[in-house]
Formats: sequence, structure tokens, C-alpha cells
Amino acid sequence: MRLEIRGVSKSYGDHSALTDVNLSIAEIRVVALLGPSGGGKSTLLRILAGLEIPDSGDISLNGDRLRPEEDWLLRHRRSVGTVFQSFNLFPHLTALRNISLPLEKVHGYASDDAAGLAMQLLSRFQLVAHAHKTPAQLSGGQKQRVAIARAVAIKPRLLLFDEPTSALDPEMTVEVLDLIAELRQEGRPLLLVTHEIGFARKVADQVVFLHEGKVLEYGNAQQLFEQPATPEMRGFLDKVLRY
Ligand SMILES: Nc1ncnc2c1ncn2[C@@H]1O[C@H](COP(=O)(O)OP(=O)(O)OP(=O)(O)O)[C@@H](O)[C@H]1O
Ligand SMILES: [Mg+2]
Repeated sequence: MRLEIRGVSKSYGDHSALTDVNLSIAEIRVVALLGPSGGGKSTLLRILAGLEIPDSGDISLNGDRLRPEEDWLLRHRRSVGTVFQSFNLFPHLTALRNISLPLEKVHGYASDDAAGLAMQLLSRFQLVAHAHKTPAQLSGGQKQRVAIARAVAIKPRLLLFDEPTSALDPEMTVEVLDLIAELRQEGRPLLLVTHEIGFARKVADQVVFLHEGKVLEYGNAQQLFEQPATPEMRGFLDKVLRY
């Protein structure tokens, strides 16, 4: 998946969250989006997910330009798999239904097929025993794995994860990170905001460093981690790697 971002800006009131962002990724593999809090990572991810519209600029995926029209955005949202830190599961539905309902209602699966695919994913992510529990009866790690299973179920052309482990304790974090490493093995294009720098170092192929609404660095992950070019990224890595 090829991504082109040209001159994208986004403000909230008089606060500029993204300022003239330019980024060109020839082939998204696993891209870690890093940077200090408030730098615009979530804003950029929401824009890519079609949940937010930039004030100016152009974005295209494989040459397909994101259009600010409601029917286009609706179709786009159905083609990407998003996972945010707060899980966003339907509280009144079981794990199984959380996965199968969108397949039926949004993606036109017959109910048997939807249930079959949902079970298959639950099994793959070691969640079969929890299929008939509602989110309130699941642990944080289990909820997040259901959310990831749901995102993957639609066979998305792009996965967008925003700090999928930030609400989890270390053990559950490992479960979710293992799952993400597995998705990487499958070669799914994935853009991931994470504060788990150790993990980013392990799985990311490419790194984008966002600072105060600007992309300051983009490149090969290993290279950027070893030799950040800007003092901002150097300072950021020093800080997050200190403990
Ligand atoms: N809906 C909103 N309304 C007003 N301001 C917003 C909104 N969303 C984001 N902002 C502001 O835009 C800036 C960028 O926010 P964003 O959430 O993208 O940062 P971030 O890099 O994801 O930070 P963090 O690492 O803390 O999640 C911040 O200053 C934030 O306060
Ligand atoms: Mg954020």
C-alpha cells in the first residue's frame, strides 16, 4: 500500500494540530508513528481512517485520493480496520456478536457466514472460551484482542492502531503485541501509534516521527532508531529510552 500525504493541515479552533504535513511511503509495511504527546499522531490516524477531514492538503492511498464526501468516506471507513485504545466494543453484545454484527450489517455477510468467520478469528486469537461473554466480562487484553479480531475480520486494505496497549497492564500488553507481530508476519499494511518503543524497534519496518504537528523524520526504522537526524527525535528517544 502506497501512501502520499501532501500539505495536510488541521486546526482545532486556533490550535494547529497538523501543519503542512508531507509524507510519502512507497510501501506501507509496519509503520510506527512516534512522537511526544500532543504532536498530532492521533489526529493524523483519524484523518487516514476517514473519521476526520483535513482543512487543506491531499492524501491518497494507492493513488486513490481521500475525498471529503460522505458516501466516499463511508466506503473508505469500511475498507480500513481501526483499533483505538478504548476498545470501542459494543457493551451489550458478546465478543462473537461484536465481530459478526458489523460483518452482517455493514459488509453484507449472511449471518451464518459472519458467525463462522467470527468464530474462526476468535479461535485464532485464543478467544473461543470468551466468545459468549460481553465486554464487561472480559479483561482489558481480551477486549483489545476482540477489537483487533474485529478490525481484521473485514479484510481491510489498511490497519490503523492508535496506542492499542496503552490501557493494558504489562502481561496483557505482551498478548496484544504478540498478536500485532503475527499480523506483521501476514504482511498486512499497518500504521501504529505506540509508546512501546522497545516493541516499535522490534516490529516496525518504517518510522514516522511527528513533532508539534510536523513530520520531522521518516525512514527505515532501524536506521532512524540508531541515527535520528533531528535533535527533536534524538531528545525524544533519549527520554523514552532512559527507563
Ligand atoms: N477534537 C479536538 N478538539 C480540540 N483540540 C484537539 C482535538 N483533537 C486533538 N486536539 C489537539 O490537537 C493536538 C494534537 O492532538 P493529538 O491527539 O493528535 O496528539 P497525539 O500526538 O495523539 O498525542 P498523545 O500522544 O497524547 O495521544 C493537541 O494539542 C490536542 O490538544
Ligand atoms: Mg494520541
